[in-house]
Parts: sequence; structure tokens; C-alpha cells
Amino acid sequence: MTKHFLVTVPIPDPGPSILAQAGKVTVLDRTPDYKTLKNLLASGDYDVVVSQLVDQLDQPMLSSARIKGIANFAVGYNNIDVHEAARQRIQVANTPGVLTDATADVAMALILSTARRVVEGDQLVRQGQFHGWEPSLLLGKNVSGATLGLAGFGRIARSVAKRALAFDMNVLFAPRPPAHRHVGDEELGDLAGRVTQASWDELLQHSDFLSLHVPLADSTHHLVDAAALERMKSDAILINTARGPVVDELALVRALQDRQIVAAGLDVYENEPIVAPGLAELANTVLLPHVGSATVPVRAEMSRLSAENAVAMANSQVPPHPVAV
Ligand code: GLV
Repeated sequence: MTKHFLVTVPIPDPGPSILAQAGKVTVLDRTPDYKTLKNLLASGDYDVVVSQLVDQLDQPMLSSARIKGIANFAVGYNNIDVHEAARQRIQVANTPGVLTDATADVAMALILSTARRVVEGDQLVRQGQFHGWEPSLLLGKNVSGATLGLAGFGRIARSVAKRALAFDMNVLFAPRPPAHRHVGDEELGDLAGRVTQASWDELLQHSDFLSLHVPLADSTHHLVDAAALERMKSDAILINTARGPVVDELALVRALQDRQIVAAGLDVYENEPIVAPGLAELANTVLLPHVGSATVPVRAEMSRLSAENAVAMANSQVPPHPVAV
């Protein structure tokens, strides 16, 4: 029987041609609303859905779905109830590895642009407010010699660590905050002796830059809340390229307004695409529209991986990148 793939928004090449070689492909013009997607998945017309992180594949949706697999076009899969998927014998796959360096680059870009007030400077020049060199114009924070705290120590955090070491930063990491897990030298590999393990509380207290690299789970929801922000240095900068709900965004706005911390660089938000009231009015924020993996080559690789995952699952095979439940 011809396999039928549902792709919830247009994706770049080569995914669509890989899918077209394996069967019939339906690509929706734009992100479907919840009810539309639920009906499509329950129709029995599709073998596999190629989904985006904005598609909420939750328990009610999956309990009625008649599909074999979900190929998420992302490494994160907090949009999918993987336990319900397992109960329904629906395989789930993601796109790990290919976006590691690109996302680490965006974390570094946010570190540099918040520390050196790049966006404020750009706006000042564009608004005709640059009147010549001044000793006190837009003074920022040193990156070299500063302490970077990494919350999480997976692929992306390690990639940020390598970049930070090249900038002569001191790198601390807490592998699974708020819980403790010891990481030995063997697991650290070429980072052994160059980065220092810390508790979550030590990370909060000692980081000049705190960069978040944890998956979104019950244990990491609002990991950075009002109490955590209070523990941070008054000249600390918070960087989030992971998932928005890891930060209590309203508490962050208050902390920035009150100068409890000095700045924040964000690529992700608690209620995307909405940003918390007040956040965009603050000069001490750099705000990106969830573009961690947005390079032409990376998006092509994500497309290839998600299509290869989809084809395998449509053929009832284990996909190249299954998500472990
Ligand atoms: C992007 O946020 C991803 O999880 O791939």
C-alpha cells in the first residue's frame, strides 16, 4: 500500500523529495489549529506526520490518532506526549546532532550581544544618536575572564563550553539541575580539566552569564524562577536558547526592571510567539525569534533526518533517530 505522509508546514529540501520517493505527501500551507490536526491524525489517511514544535501532540490528540509515527522537525520533543504515543504504539523520532553547533553559536551571539550592548548600539547609530567616540558610551561587561554557568551538559551545552573556552571564560556546569548528577572525566572527554562541575545553587551564585541547555520537563519547568533570580549576581546575564517555560518570564521581567540581574538574551519564550508584557520595552534584553537552528545547511539536515525517520516509521522500521521514552 502506498505510504502517506502528512507534513504540517512546508519544510525545506531535501525532506519533501525523500518523502515523495517513498509515497504520497500532503503538505499543509500553514500550521494547522489543534482541532484540524486532531481530525487529520484521526482520519486514518496518514502513516506518519512530520510535525513541528508548535504542533501540540498531547494525550487527547494521540489517543485518537491512527498513525504509525511522528517525525518531529526538531531535537526537542516537549510538544509530544511520548508516553501516550508509546501506549498507542506510535513511534516518535527527532533530529539530534545536526543543530548542535548552530544553536551554540546563537547562545554565544546572545552572550556577546548582551555583554557588549550590540543591539542598543545598532539602534543608537540608526537613530542618528551617534555623535562621536565617547569614553563612557555604552559600557558593557567583559566576556573574557567571566564565569559562564551552563545549566545542563548535553551536546549543545558542551558546544557552548568549547566556544566559551576559546573566549577565555571560566566554565562551570550543572549537568541535570536542579538535581545533582556527577560527571566523571571519561564522560567529559576533551573537556576534562577545562570545565568545573557545580551544584545548581553554586551555578546561580557564581555565574556572570547563566546559559540554559536543559530539556523542558516537569523538573525544569520554571527552573529559573523568582527565587533563582534572587540568588544570581546583580551583574549577571541570563541566556536562554533551550525552551521558554524553563524560565518564569514574568519573574524575569521584574528582575530586569528592578536590576536584580543586568540583562537577558533570549531565543525562546514561555508562550511563543507572545512575549511577556514589559520584556520588549527593556533595553537590557536581546530578543530573538527562536532561531537557534536557523541556518540554511542545518534546516536542510533537519529536513533530511525528519524525512528519513518518517520513511522508516511508515515502513514499520525503527527510525534512525528514535526518541527514548
Ligand atoms: C529547536 O528548538 C529544536 O528543538 O530543534
